[in-house]
Amino acid sequence: MNQPKDPILKNLKIRPMNESDVNRITLLETRIFPDPWPKSAFLEELGKDYRGVIIADIDGAISGYASYIISYGEAHLTNIAVAPKYRGKSIAKNLLNAILDIAKKADCEYVFLDVRPTNTAAISIYQKSGFAELYRRPNYYHNPVEDAIVMVKSLDQEDA
Ligand SMILES: CC(C)(COP(=O)(O)OP(=O)(O)OC[C@H]1O[C@@H](n2cnc3c(N)ncnc32)[C@H](O)[C@@H]1OP(=O)(O)O)[C@@H](O)C(=O)NCCC(=O)NCCS
Repeated sequence: MNQPKDPILKNLKIRPMNESDVNRITLLETRIFPDPWPKSAFLEELGKDYRGVIIADIDGAISGYASYIISYGEAHLTNIAVAPKYRGKSIAKNLLNAILDIAKKADCEYVFLDVRPTNTAAISIYQKSGFAELYRRPNYYHNPVEDAIVMVKSLDQEDA
């Protein structure tokens, strides 16, 4: 049986990142990841058709964000994170679904992502969303050094 939805989700709006979000996202990114994207990387994502960052906005607070690149009929989830106090409320699930919608609208056949093998929370979400392991890139991550699991989801079986 499905878990009841967290009431906070009533106020959740998934929207594109704008320039005024960048400082707050960079701060969150630095708190969450040992190898964070710099501010310049987020600025680089603004105003592009084929790549971008989406925000999980709850009453003006940034609860999470995710980024993507669309290239040659493939979509890549390049980043996803939820602020610690908002975790376990399906925010990542909503962000991931929004990225899948963007990929479908761009007529992508596949969505790819990389994840650390030790990141069991993220792997669990991806598997529940239908992603499967494709192969591993040895020593791909730094700080700490770790392989990357490359996962893929086919959008073929999905409803348009
Ligand atoms: C991974 C992360 C994005 C999950 O965000 P979240 O908003 O808490 O996830 P959700 O609440 O949407 O969970 C979605 C599903 O994954 C499961 N899940 C979430 N966290 C989990 C955990 N720690 N262990 C096992 N399963 C977990 C949930 O049970 C849920 O499944 P359900 O829909 O069947 O209930 C968040 O923990 C995070 O920001 N981590 C640090 C950054 C990171 O690792 N990003 C991924 C890089 S590849």
